[in-house]
Amino acid sequence: MSLHQVTKRYAGQAVVDGLTLALEPGRCHGLLGPNGAGKTTTLRLALGLIVPDAGDIRLLGRPVPREAAAARQRVGVVPQADSLDPDFSVRENLIAYGRYFGLGRREIEARIPALLEFAGLTARAQARVPTLSGGMRRRLALARALVNDPELIILDEPTTGLDPQARHLVWQGLRRLIQQGKTLLLTTHFMEEAERLCDTISIIDHGRIIAAGSPRELIRRHIEPHVVEVYGEGAADWASHARRLCRRCEQAGETLFCYTDDARPLTDALDRRAGVRYLHRPANLEDVFLKLTGRDLRE
Ligand SMILES: Nc1ncnc2c1ncn2[C@@H]1O[C@H](COP(=O)(O)OP(=O)(O)O)[C@@H](O)[C@H]1O
Ligand SMILES: [Mg+2]
Repeated sequence: MSLHQVTKRYAGQAVVDGLTLALEPGRCHGLLGPNGAGKTTTLRLALGLIVPDAGDIRLLGRPVPREAAAARQRVGVVPQADSLDPDFSVRENLIAYGRYFGLGRREIEARIPALLEFAGLTARAQARVPTLSGGMRRRLALARALVNDPELIILDEPTTGLDPQARHLVWQGLRRLIQQGKTLLLTTHFMEEAERLCDTISIIDHGRIIAAGSPRELIRRHIEPHVVEVYGEGAADWASHARRLCRRCEQAGETLFCYTDDARPLTDALDRRAGVRYLHRPANLEDVFLKLTGRDLRE
């Protein structure tokens, strides 16, 4: 899948703005961005569900939107909002979805046991959608996206709203797909998810890619390696002092984030100071994300 200089406007406003992105086959790609950044719109453009105002899009080698329907035969999609049929059972949902792809009932039935096993829903095959937990629904949406044995799987926030247990189960499933050589494109708000699963990450804001690379590259390129988070009553008073001891400081609520190449001068000073607590940790993708997109709330 590739997008070249793609723009999409709503009411004159560019929601996707000259965006270029190419997926390498067999790898997992992450699209990160604050709410409203244009992630879902980008995926919908790539799938040919909406038409761009400018730019070229290819999906599995075919020009989109012109040949999108044919290309989508080899693509699995897990949309942001669940679109499971609530009147159907788990099993019936898989059958109905397979029918969209023109698969015969027999063919779908032959695939169902493996799909149910993959989703950990074998025991719930006859259960109706409203009786499933959020995690089960998400896993069903994932199983459903695999009914046509896709080469490319596009997942829009596959783990939003899940508890940590359910999230780990979904990650296991995604890791299996990566091991099978599938190409994945996922959006997420969980930096840990992106860091664990993705080979490459594109950070998108205001419809533009503002940084791209492997999780390690992004951390190395954009952020100091050490972070000291300072909390407690004295943290705010300590900020002016901290600025002299580290490269960059950010105040967010009660916490002072100090970014530095060498944490020692900071932690030594903090150890001598009463009324503050601190956590020294390596920089992570979330630090990169917050540095590049800011700490202000969106929407
Ligand atoms: N059909 C639409 N009509 C008008 N505005 C839209 C439409 N779809 C998305 N938008 C706007 O485009 C922006 C990006 O939306 P979206 O791609 O859903 O962002 P994200 O998935 O990154 O949260 C938002 O400001 C959203 O309100
Ligand atoms: Mg979205």
